[in-house]
Amino acid sequence: MITATRVTKTYASPAGPVTVLQDLDLEVAAGESVAIVGPSGSGKTTLLNLIGALDRPTSGTLQVAGEDLGALDAAAAARFRNRHLGFVFQLHHLLPQCTVLENVLVPRLAGGWTEDAATTRARAEALLREVGLQDRLDHRPYQLSGGEQLRVAIARALINQPRVILADEPTGSLDPATGERIADLLLRQTAGKAALVVVTHNPGLARRLHRTCRLEQGRLVG
Ligand SMILES: Nc1ncnc2c1ncn2[C@@H]1O[C@H](COP(=O)(O)OP(=O)(O)OP(=O)(O)O)[C@@H](O)[C@H]1O
Ligand SMILES: [Mg+2]
Repeated sequence: MITATRVTKTYASPAGPVTVLQDLDLEVAAGESVAIVGPSGSGKTTLLNLIGALDRPTSGTLQVAGEDLGALDAAAAARFRNRHLGFVFQLHHLLPQCTVLENVLVPRLAGGWTEDAATTRARAEALLREVGLQDRLDHRPYQLSGGEQLRVAIARALINQPRVILADEPTGSLDPATGERIADLLLRQTAGKAALVVVTHNPGLARRLHRTCRLEQGRLVG
């Protein structure tokens, strides 16, 4: 489902170019889950952004859910993300003016979805129940705790039943029991059909995934 081949990412900076990823290879099959670990600044979010077609590599190729990401223009990349990707961002990027339920439904606003509104809404409510927010549907993000905002972001990432789930620290601000529930949910959504890539400093979560890769000097080891 995900094939990254010799991916290099170099950022321009005032102090000169910074190469964060260097000839990185990664292969993740459907139904497979991978934890990415590594110190702060090692390039974990950079890697998720490339797999998620939010940024382009300096060199190398990415095949995700059957698409060659290098061949997509901006509009095609946006459509690809909406159809196939669920992204839980390190900063959650909830829409402040929308309620919890509306935030989860935002990915359905893109054109082309044919499911009727009641079915979609029922799935959104079921996801919010699974993340423990059934009593917060009408809250705005500013009326939520940090961990609650994160859980809205997780429900939003899953609403379109993505084939590729990318999650940047999805248990970062959660207590162990809530973190376990989130891990259960992500793994259930992945089982047999989707690829899951999780950046995490939580060893308990990493252990539950099929394998763990460490980012070291721009490459994945392990
Ligand atoms: N847009 C950018 N321009 C220049 N440098 C950048 C840019 N984005 C990230 N970097 C640099 O690339 C490196 C990797 O950043 P990245 O966000 O991928 O790290 P990370 O492994 O996710 O870290 P953390 O665990 O702190 O979230 C950092 O040193 C950062 O300063
Ligand atoms: Mg990061």
